[in-house]
Amino acid sequence: MPESVAVIIGSGCQDLLEPVSARTVKTAYGSPSGPIQTLRLGETGVAAIARHGVEHTIPPHKINYRANIAALAAVGITRVIGLNTVGVVSSIREPGQIGVPDQIIDYTWGREHTFFTGGDAGVDHIEFTEPFAEPLRNELLNAAEAAGVECYDGGVYAATQGPRLETAAEVNRLERDGADYLGMTAMPEASLAAETGIDYACLCLVVNKAAGRGDRPIHDDLAASTQHARARAFTVLEAFLKRGQDGE
Ligand code: HPA
Repeated sequence: MPESVAVIIGSGCQDLLEPVSARTVKTAYGSPSGPIQTLRLGETGVAAIARHGVEHTIPPHKINYRANIAALAAVGITRVIGLNTVGVVSSIREPGQIGVPDQIIDYTWGREHTFFTGGDAGVDHIEFTEPFAEPLRNELLNAAEAAGVECYDGGVYAATQGPRLETAAEVNRLERDGADYLGMTAMPEASLAAETGIDYACLCLVVNKAAGRGDRPIHDDLAASTQHARARAFTVLEAFLKRGQDGE
């Protein structure tokens, strides 16, 4: 297993974690969402934290993003793949599919979003022009191609506050802003990773059409699509890890 890589897994993926390998890491920012565990994917595995906790009890706005990133950095992780379930705004992407976005707009608020809090912690203004690590994004896309899984390259991830879903008018505004994917968790995860010097990329699981865009209730969409998107994402992840092992 490439030791320097970890995955932060989102909703609906906890069952693949192996509790035997659990490693609890304390940080100066409090407790991470859970221990660092092994996510088992076929013959291979990867270090992973369950973003919402092992029992899925932590909503997006209450996740201790700083502790999660600090814990991974503390054990030597230098590359993180965030698995994020998302709603989709644009009609070219369908629930059940996956994508690797290349931009972010942050609409979240009230989250502990920086390590640079002043005083002893210092003040810094990191460059965040390209919020995702391009080499890692490309590795994911190459793994998808090698595995024969369709995976969209690029798109704007709009990080919304949640935990409620959006109104139809909010989705219209987000589309005018340029959003393709709507999710609640890539921020401040991505910027904290950047502050720490960790390469970060997001593998989005499209699980529903955004509010007002589908022809059925969103939770019906979620029920029908999550397993398809999850299967595709894990196939890509497994290919990514195997290619890392084989030095590709
Ligand atoms: N909006 C915001 N976050 C989400 C959605 C959505 O439609 N689906 C899954 N996470």
